[in-house]
Amino acid sequence: MSTRKKITLSTLRNKKRQGQRISMLTCYDYSTARLMEEAGVDGLLVGDTYAEVCLGHPSTLPATMDHMVVIAEAVRRGAPTAYLIGDMPYLSYQVTPEDAIRHAGRFMAEAQCDCVKVEVDRRLVKTVERMAAATIPVMAHLGLGPQSVPRLGGYKVQGKDASDAVRLLEDVRLMEKAGAVSILLEAVSTELAAEVTASTSLPVIGCVSGPQCDGQVVVLHDMLGFGVGHPPRAVRPYTNLHDVLIAAFRAYTKDILEGRFPALEDSVSMPPEEHEAFLLALGRSLPQTVGRE
Ligand code: KIV
Repeated sequence: MSTRKKITLSTLRNKKRQGQRISMLTCYDYSTARLMEEAGVDGLLVGDTYAEVCLGHPSTLPATMDHMVVIAEAVRRGAPTAYLIGDMPYLSYQVTPEDAIRHAGRFMAEAQCDCVKVEVDRRLVKTVERMAAATIPVMAHLGLGPQSVPRLGGYKVQGKDASDAVRLLEDVRLMEKAGAVSILLEAVSTELAAEVTASTSLPVIGCVSGPQCDGQVVVLHDMLGFGVGHPPRAVRPYTNLHDVLIAAFRAYTKDILEGRFPALEDSVSMPPEEHEAFLLALGRSLPQTVGRE
């Protein structure tokens, strides 16, 4: 049972004010969420990367609201005090602001999320305004939005040239004005990320956007060393779970093939008298050597 105080938006704002960093990871299930809670990760993003790393799709586009809400609920059960962010999947907010509010409301009411994340640029200012007016806390995801990859034609770092950087900085300001409560910058240049972080009072979480953001988020599988999908997510692996898991799966398979698993100690035996009664019921008698351990 966690003894940590609930991480709220105020916690994140205070951290920014006091120059303390914010740690976030993507998370897609209860068991992993429990470990992140125990380890003291501040924020858990139930990302639509679920479609890639858990379902094996080549992009995030096939994630649906129903998938996302179910896994967000599980993550919340595992991490009751973490700041929980529900990632709005493709076309759950782009069509109408009404859709956006209703779908965001599911994350808030059914999964007890603390906020929802939407991939935006200035064209979605009205939607963010309407969501904020409907009391939805919105994290504005700017820079590279994986849902726009088909339109962009690939995973490309954003804000590398001056005019692009100025446009992105203006978009951040527009989102702040529209009522967003935090910013996520994905795959933007370090210089732009530093400028954004210094120029807003909102907590700025970077994802492959350099060290100067208020916090960092990465895709869980990438930092555990068994990522799938497209490069380049320049993420430092903190362990090599690929090798650890392969070794465990191989050892398990070998033990089964060679008769070492399960051993009698890994198994449950009948009490001797029940075994005897069982054999009698089958019309057999108890062999001298069997079942007398
Ligand atoms: O869905 C996700 O995991 C994300 C991160 C890449 C930031 O949006």
